[in-house]
Parts: sequence; structure tokens; C-alpha cells
Amino acid sequence: MCGIVAYVGPKEAYPVILKGLKRLEYRGYDSSGVALLNSGLKVYKKKGKVAELEDSLMGKDLHANIGIGHTRWATHGEPCDRNAHPHSSSNGKLAMIHNGIIENYSQLKNELMKKGYQFTSDTDTEVLLKFIEDIQQNNHCTLEEAVRIALKRVVGAYVIVLIDEDNPDTLIAARKGSPLVIGIGKGEHFLASDASPIIEYTKEVVYVNDYELAIIRPDELILKNLGNEKITPFITKLDMELAAIEKGGYDHFMLKEIFEQPDTIFDCLRGRLDASLGTITMAGVQNNIDQIKNANRIIIIACGTSWHAGLLAEYIFEELCRIPVEVEYASEFRYRNPIVRPGDVIIAVSQSGETADTLVAIEKAKEQGAMIFGVVNVVGSSIARISNAGAYTHAGPEIGVASTKAFTAQLVVLTLIALKVAHEKGSIDQKRFIHLLNELHDIPEKVRTTLQTAEQVKTLAEKYKDAKDFLYLGRGYNFPIALEGALKLKEISYIHAEGYPAAEMKHGPIALVDETLPVVFVATKDSYHEKIVSNIQEIKARKGKVIAVVTEGDDTITAMADDVIAVPEADEILAPILSVIPLQLLAYYIGIAKDLDVDKPRNLAKSVTVE
Ligand code: M6R
Repeated sequence: MCGIVAYVGPKEAYPVILKGLKRLEYRGYDSSGVALLNSGLKVYKKKGKVAELEDSLMGKDLHANIGIGHTRWATHGEPCDRNAHPHSSSNGKLAMIHNGIIENYSQLKNELMKKGYQFTSDTDTEVLLKFIEDIQQNNHCTLEEAVRIALKRVVGAYVIVLIDEDNPDTLIAARKGSPLVIGIGKGEHFLASDASPIIEYTKEVVYVNDYELAIIRPDELILKNLGNEKITPFITKLDMELAAIEKGGYDHFMLKEIFEQPDTIFDCLRGRLDASLGTITMAGVQNNIDQIKNANRIIIIACGTSWHAGLLAEYIFEELCRIPVEVEYASEFRYRNPIVRPGDVIIAVSQSGETADTLVAIEKAKEQGAMIFGVVNVVGSSIARISNAGAYTHAGPEIGVASTKAFTAQLVVLTLIALKVAHEKGSIDQKRFIHLLNELHDIPEKVRTTLQTAEQVKTLAEKYKDAKDFLYLGRGYNFPIALEGALKLKEISYIHAEGYPAAEMKHGPIALVDETLPVVFVATKDSYHEKIVSNIQEIKARKGKVIAVVTEGDDTITAMADDVIAVPEADEILAPILSVIPLQLLAYYIGIAKDLDVDKPRNLAKSVTVE
């Protein structure tokens, strides 16, 4: 949530920062701003997307070799110019950008107001900056020292970056709970919330850890802890190409990412699955196999789409591994008093690896002695680093705010883990194990075939785009897919949609059914097929419009439904990887038909780093 970029070095800072903000816009796009230091500090900010800031700065002299930039997802205060970052100190000599939330900001604000400070915004960020300014003035200390003192009093999460008119070659940054990457160039440094603004300049990066403070000059990067002790920066090589974060000829990132799924799933399987040898190679699982296969319980912790992947994993793990599984919303888990015992294994599922609720929930479980296994997409992210072991999903950068390719990659990785554990444990017979490996091997091609439904789904989108509500129903392995289909539609088209277990419908939601309600059945061939056929009849009897995702050749449902989208046949455990694809496409095309910004839906952000 919120994207930050900063630069110091010989280049023009503004174009570097502007391009970086565009890449980070998926993190929030309520407003944006830059602060540039040449002869004097200048701050420019604007409500709306980064392009609006860019337009407002046309023709201005923006020459500077040091600067900071921010794109905002509002927490404290409405989206407007005044609340946009960077914020300025009272004396105008400092400017600061911030990603996170300062929880004790009102207490700090009251203290500062008593001292006569005035505030021009409603943000917690301005409070923190003026708190730092106050400390610096009272203690006659350096900015670095003032930041250190201030952060010891701050409760909450933050990445902050400060620029200082009195030190025109120095940026000061600090992190707790929100991500910060520093790119190391030749005589220059780049700072950003993730690596996407950095990769075209350098592949050498340092991931700043919690409670670390960085002093950054063109030729120097000093890392310290809040006790003022120096830390040796750990330099990592980025394994990412520029093409991966560009649209590559597609109109939208969302569509590109949907169509990338045959390749991302293949990448996810590569080096892990060898169907001919009948092996799964996953070091993170193998190195901890005794603990995982003997777990008392697996607790899957996640949010949003990742939670849906976790829910499907519950069905798969219980079926194949015979280990009890619970699936928890991270935001609930972290605030209850959950019972976690040393024999429990936590699987944290997250695309970004930065979701604040998930991060704090697993920290809490770790404190109670659980082993944390991360299933994460973003390499080097906070959740990946805090986990005891893990498996990356290797879906590549996902820029569209709605998660698509990361979801199917999560399903694949979780299935691989379940298969490996089941095999090691002996809870799956060899014939079924080999059958599932072969089926997994074939999944990328079946996803490619499923994508051929796109034109048909586009036509359906036109037909149903004006519906006010949708119901998504599924049973068994397809129930989490019904939830995911409904979430995608809500996010992208702003149409109210509910996902439900198909049989649960008769306990309430059936009251909603009439001839205006489209009901999407996720009804591929599985052990529940006959049951779901009955559920479809129940909807048809009440004149509901049925759109069904079925297995190719399913004449029974085809004869009953108003519209049918057919996907290739697959084992019931793997069929959800196919059945979700038409639902992603349906959300996308309805969003397009309604002329909405599908890559940046209103009110959302890609990486939810606030609670
Ligand atoms: O990065 P994460 O997987 O931890 O994010 C979790 C959710 O915020 C995320 O899946 C969200 O629901 C997406 N907008 C879904 O499209």
C-alpha cells in the first residue's frame, strides 16, 4: 500500500522517480507527489493518478539529482492534494514520504499542537515528520539522530524516506513492517517499495530489514540499527527481467497475466515435477519433511484470493495427507487468542509477501513455537524472509491489482506440497500419485486450451454486464473457485457478487433467485456432479439464469443451463486450476464492457501493507 521511490546520483531524478511511480501505481493511486532538491527543496503533489501529477508538472524546471516520490492509498485523510505525499516540515527544509500507519499519531499530534505546531493535512505522516523536526530542533542533533529518536517512540508500521535541504546529497530512510529495497548503481542509489522501478538500472539490491535505518548518498550506503550500530548491507542479485513488468502488447496487465498462466504454471512446475521419474523436488519441503508429515495440524493463514487458494489446499491436504487443516483469515487470527502448539505447521500464502495482516499473524504463530512455511510469489519479500522454509510460486511480477496468475500458481505449489507430503507419508497410493503427477504435467496445456474460451466469455460479458447481483456456486474443490469468481467480479466490475457452497444456497440465498439473477455454477465433472446437477435444477425451477463452467462433453448440464463454458477434462483435484480461468475472464470482460479501469479498480491496492 502506497508506493515510494527515491533517487540520488548523477541522473535527472524526476524522470527516474516518475517512471518508478508509474510502476508502483498498483500499490495505490489516490494521489501522488514528488520532492526535488536543487537550489532549494520543491514539493509537488496532486490528487488522482500519477499521469495527473505528470500533466500538472509539464513545462516546470524539474532539474535535480536527488528526489523522492510517492503514490498513495489513503488511510488517514481523504484523497486530495493536501493529504498527498511528500509532506513538508514547518521550516520547509525537510520533506518526507511514508508507507504504513503511525498508530500513536494522535497522541504525538496533541503534544506537537501544544508546542504550537500547525498541520496542513490530516495525515499521520505529517505528524511524524514534524515530530522528527521538533526532536532535531530541541536536541540540536543531526537528522539521522532525530529520526532514530523519533522511531523509538513510534507505534505502527512504516517505511519513511526523508530529503533535507541542509544535506543536499543525502537521503535518510527507515523501515519497520513495510517493504523497502535499495538498488545499488555506479555512483547512484535507487529506493523503492519493490524492485520494479529499479531493475532497468541495476540488479544489485539490498532489502532493508525492520528497525534498520539507511543513510544514502551517491557513493555511499550506510545501514544502521536503531541503536546506531552499523550493519553490513547484504547485497542480493535480482532475478527479474524488465519485460516481465511491461504490458507486452496487451491492453491491460490483467489480461496479460490471465494469458500468461500456461507459462507461469509451467515455470512453477519446472525443476520440481518430473512425471516420468515420478518425483517432486522441493527443498523447502524435503528439508522439513518429518515436521510437516507428522504435523498435528496445518494452519493456513492468508487474505483475499490467497485465502481462497488456502481453502482449496485444505481440501487437497486433508484428502491426500490425512492431516487436519484449518484455514484462517490472517486479520482474524492475529487479533484472537489462537491456540498454536509446537507441533503445528503454519502455511502462509501471499502473492506480495508483504500483506500486513498475514505478516503479523505468522509472527505471532512463530512466537508460539509453530514452524512457518511460506508460499509466496515475491522473492525476498517480508513473509518469505520471516518463514522458516518455503516454496516460491514463480508466477513473475503480478501488476494487475486483481490476482490471477498468482492464484493459479499458488494452487499448483500447494498441490505439489500436498502430493510430496502424502507420498513421503505413505497416505497416497502409488498409482494415484503417478496419475496426479501426469495430470499436473498436462495442466499448462489444458490452461492454454481453456484460454480459447475468451471470445465466448466476452460475448457472455456483454449479455450479463448490466446485472445488479451475481451468485457463484460450487461444491467440494470448486467451492473455493466460486468464492474466487465472486471476488474477481466484485473487484473488477463493482457488481455485487456472492460465492456460496452450492448446497448451502437452499439455506438462505435461494430467496434472491428470480429471472434477473445470473447464477454461475462451477460444475466440472467430479464426485459431486450429480449433486450439483440437482442444485442447477433448483435454480432453474425458480427462473434463475444459469451460466455453468463444465467439463467438455457434459451434455447433462449443457441441456439445462442458459450458457455453458466448457473446460478440458482433468482430475477433480486439479480441475479448479482450469475452472477459475473463465471466471477471471468474465470479470475482466464485464469490467471492460463497463469501461472501468480493470488494472486499478477503485479503492483497492495490490499490496495491503496496512491492517
Ligand atoms: O499479496 P497477498 O496475496 O497477501 O494479498 C492478499 C489479498 O490482499 C489479495 O489476494 C486481494 O484479495 C486481491 N485484490 C485479490 O484479487
